[in-house]
Amino acid sequence: MTHGSMLLGRDGLQLPPRVVTDPHALVAERERLSGPVAVVMTMGALHDGHVALLRQARARGANVIATLFVNPLQFGPNEDFDRYPRNREDDLAVFAREQVDLVFAPTAADLYPGGTPAVRVDPGPLGAVLEGASRPGFFHGVLTVVLKLLHLTRPDAAFFGEKDFQQLALVRAMVADFDLDVEIVGVPTVREYDGLALSSRNRYLDPDQRRSALVLSRALAAGAAAGRRGRQAVEGAARAVIAAEAGVQLDYLALTDPRLGPPPAYGEARLLIAARIGSTRLIDNAAVSLSGRAGATQAGD
Ligand code: PAF
Repeated sequence: MTHGSMLLGRDGLQLPPRVVTDPHALVAERERLSGPVAVVMTMGALHDGHVALLRQARARGANVIATLFVNPLQFGPNEDFDRYPRNREDDLAVFAREQVDLVFAPTAADLYPGGTPAVRVDPGPLGAVLEGASRPGFFHGVLTVVLKLLHLTRPDAAFFGEKDFQQLALVRAMVADFDLDVEIVGVPTVREYDGLALSSRNRYLDPDQRRSALVLSRALAAGAAAGRRGRQAVEGAARAVIAAEAGVQLDYLALTDPRLGPPPAYGEARLLIAARIGSTRLIDNAAVSLSGRAGATQAGD
């Protein structure tokens, strides 16, 4: 299905969304929307994880603005900016099917007319650990584009996937620290039938690598299942799963609290993983309940 074709949607014949590339045009179109506005920011190569964001935004009864922009600022010099999957027609067809009201799909020159911006949002210490330690400058680039897109779209709510858990935490921190008047909504990770977290980068994997990539979700599940035995058991169980899988290069495995601080002794925690399968770097995370004494009481032992 190509952009511009008519689509049969819930309410019968449906027009494709309006697509703008120029920030001034976006601001003018945004002015015309009445009622609440929700934004879903994407880099395209859309999958069902993005669809979940769009549907949650739509379920709010809001006008939905989607952005489509592979942001060069958040890629390091040796990363996959050039080969990042781009398929504008397919992405626009998904936006049309999901009844997006307005799509902002700028080029880098549209969004950064002065060239690479000299001023960037500093993510602070939380931006220097985990993904930030492996990908220096990544969160400066992410937060800078997110801030620009929030200014341009002026949404009531913005939807982000929990798969990029650290990104979600940093967007929330930026919104709080800069007094931005927008609700940030986190949406649970969408997985394939066998546990693989949906990611645009999954399409880099060949069948053998895809099988190996399941080690991420299996390690998280093993870690989460060990939650009643304490922090060390969680990490130990997850690491044992990873060690048993050849061809996987672990970047980090970290147990934290839900805000990415040091893990608590008891209660809710988060287990995060990043690993390289061949040349493809994947991330995933899961909630872990460190039940300790409270859990032991509940379980009756
Ligand atoms: O999560 C992503 O796809 C990107 O980091 C985002 C939020 C669209 C910013 O480029």
